[in-house]
Amino acid sequence: MSTTLTFYGQASFGVETAGFKLVIDPFFTGNPLAPISAEEVEADYLLVSHGHGDHIGDTIPIVKRTGAKVITTAEIAGWLGKQDIEAHPQHIGGGFHHPFGYLKFTQAFHGSGLPDGSYGGMPAGFLLTTKADKKIYFAQDTGLFGDMKLYGDEGLDVAFLPIGDNFTMGPDDALRAVKLLRPKTVVPMHYNTWPLIEQDPQAWAERVRAQTDSKVIVMQPGETLEV
Ligand code: NI
Ligand code: MN
Repeated sequence: MSTTLTFYGQASFGVETAGFKLVIDPFFTGNPLAPISAEEVEADYLLVSHGHGDHIGDTIPIVKRTGAKVITTAEIAGWLGKQDIEAHPQHIGGGFHHPFGYLKFTQAFHGSGLPDGSYGGMPAGFLLTTKADKKIYFAQDTGLFGDMKLYGDEGLDVAFLPIGDNFTMGPDDALRAVKLLRPKTVVPMHYNTWPLIEQDPQAWAERVRAQTDSKVIVMQPGETLEV
């Protein structure tokens, strides 16, 4: 029972696992890297890490079209509730056994203001344990933090890390993050969407290969990875 991960550009991913379709940070409209549109994507669940437009993205129209269930922080769940969108609230350190697997919210050092200026609480990342017991870490938008070592102690199969700099970790700190997380495979994200976050992912991959035991996969938007 494998899990299929599809990169949609920026920090947006499709996850097919245990017969369910998840979309992480569903950012299609305004995402120059998105290989499909918000009108085409299929979803049973939307996981939203924080309130910024490139993460909450197309959540509301996708829910209205597909009936997908949203899983997000308590503050964003409350904000969605005021718009008649039901969401499962979780928060940092808290895990829950969903039908698709065990999802824990991880810490992230960033902001989380919502598009209308509402308070969005703390941002988060995700640690998904699949039904096949694979551990997949989505750091989402964050700076480097030392407790990544503790997530690494869980034994990560895949880690998705931002390398774009400016708003999140850049290549140097993302390399340090790989050393703390020690994932079997690492995939860079949150870069080359806009000029402010232009990076060379292949150059970063070479540094990771030279300095760690992690395998690096540079995914093009639309590409998939089997775990
Ligand atoms: Ni952000
Ligand atoms: Mn972002």
